[in-house]
Amino acid sequence: MTQLETYITEHETAFLEDLKGWLRIPSISTLPEHTDDMVRAANYAVAQLQRIGFANAGLITTQGHPLVYGEWLKAAGKPTILVYGHYDVQPVDPVNLWDSPPFEPTIRNGNIYCRGACDDKGQTMLVFKALESLMSVNGTLPVNVRVLIEGEEEAGGESIEAYVRTSPETLACDAAFICDTHMPAKDIPALISGLRGIIYTEVQVDGAKRDLHSGSYGGVAPNPLHALAIIISRLKDADGHIHIPGLYDKLRKPTHAEKEFWHNDPLHINEALREEMGVARLAGELEYPPLERIAARPTLEVHGIIGGFVGDGAKTVIPATATAKISLRLPADLKSAEVFGLFERAVQEVAPPDVAVTVRSVHGGEGILVTPDSPPIKAAMEALQETYGKEPVFLREGGSIPIAALFYELLGVPVVLMGFGLPDDNLHAPNEKYSLDQFFKGVRTVASFLEKMGR
Ligand code: BES
Ligand code: MN
Ligand code: MN
Repeated sequence: MTQLETYITEHETAFLEDLKGWLRIPSISTLPEHTDDMVRAANYAVAQLQRIGFANAGLITTQGHPLVYGEWLKAAGKPTILVYGHYDVQPVDPVNLWDSPPFEPTIRNGNIYCRGACDDKGQTMLVFKALESLMSVNGTLPVNVRVLIEGEEEAGGESIEAYVRTSPETLACDAAFICDTHMPAKDIPALISGLRGIIYTEVQVDGAKRDLHSGSYGGVAPNPLHALAIIISRLKDADGHIHIPGLYDKLRKPTHAEKEFWHNDPLHINEALREEMGVARLAGELEYPPLERIAARPTLEVHGIIGGFVGDGAKTVIPATATAKISLRLPADLKSAEVFGLFERAVQEVAPPDVAVTVRSVHGGEGILVTPDSPPIKAAMEALQETYGKEPVFLREGGSIPIAALFYELLGVPVVLMGFGLPDDNLHAPNEKYSLDQFFKGVRTVASFLEKMGR
């Protein structure tokens, strides 16, 4: 056994304890009542970095939640890797659907359950532990490393965007490394070749100047909730086609190889998707294979509708206002600002004339496509092959990590999207979990990737 292997094996319990301590801090970025928890979670990451040997690790204050930054630049002549992760997590509602408390890390059946167990504290911690293992065993790292961890990824990532735009020179590097994605199955190692961008919006509909009795006014009053239903149903039809003029214009045609892969589905992802969702049939554009619908088609989803009477019993009211939260996922060819403009226009066009409609942008971010031939991608592929004993696949994902595109654009470096999540990790949902086996394989793979980058 190599010294590195021995170190990792002997420290499994200690690694998990460090992860659990971080998971117990409820760092929900979108809820103002957790502002102090955000600072605690950020400082927890700083302490981890300092222990590894990142002497100057500390917080960077922002307009929002702090960034965590640390650097170790003593590997003269070696490449510099920028490691990114996020310490913020999604809200935990509905809490009653959790089998153990959302912020009490609990181990069951080889998994650790907790909000953030995978996304992204578990995945970020495994990178810390790869660095710790290399440093402890060798007294040095094989490459130069900058670490930048944010606390607003789940809330739009404004602060890190501002930081990267104003100070790109402080992040000079040869590759960015992001551990915040999935593999299709536990025996299918994967690197992510593409992510979708996103626009997240609120559509507010206003009718009368106040709530109205539905008997006295029903028949003459505008109903904002019904108007919203009309708008939503016109934006996307029952077959999954989005009716936003111009939306599909700039969508690049997929390559023959991609089409083949989506169509043949050699990894049997279609079947797995149905099972994970517990549905009899898949929704969406039937004329495209499911994999293509997730990876390379724009999609529109309604996340919530606020308005009217939702208490127990009955109340005959016509609400004065209603709001829907609506987002679109965008393959990398579609730019978020442009699509927001198209969306806004389409909403106004389909809105009934008797209501006033306001469209707000909550956040937006770009997608990314990664080319397979850069040295960092090759090193990542080799490292995965080594740990999993199997050739990794290079695969597009439907989710979004807006900072990936910004690193690519502003720093001009290849972005390695290597994550160890599994499809049943319940991201953003009750009972989020992370496979312990994946966590430790992740530590080994990332350590091996860094070693290969230093060759
Ligand atoms: N880690 C996810 C993104 C992800 C999920 C990538 C699954 C690949 C597979 C990330 O934390 C996330 O949830 N991103 C948000 C971004 C948004 C809030 C801008 C998303 O995709 O909804
Ligand atoms: Mn994430
Ligand atoms: Mn997430």
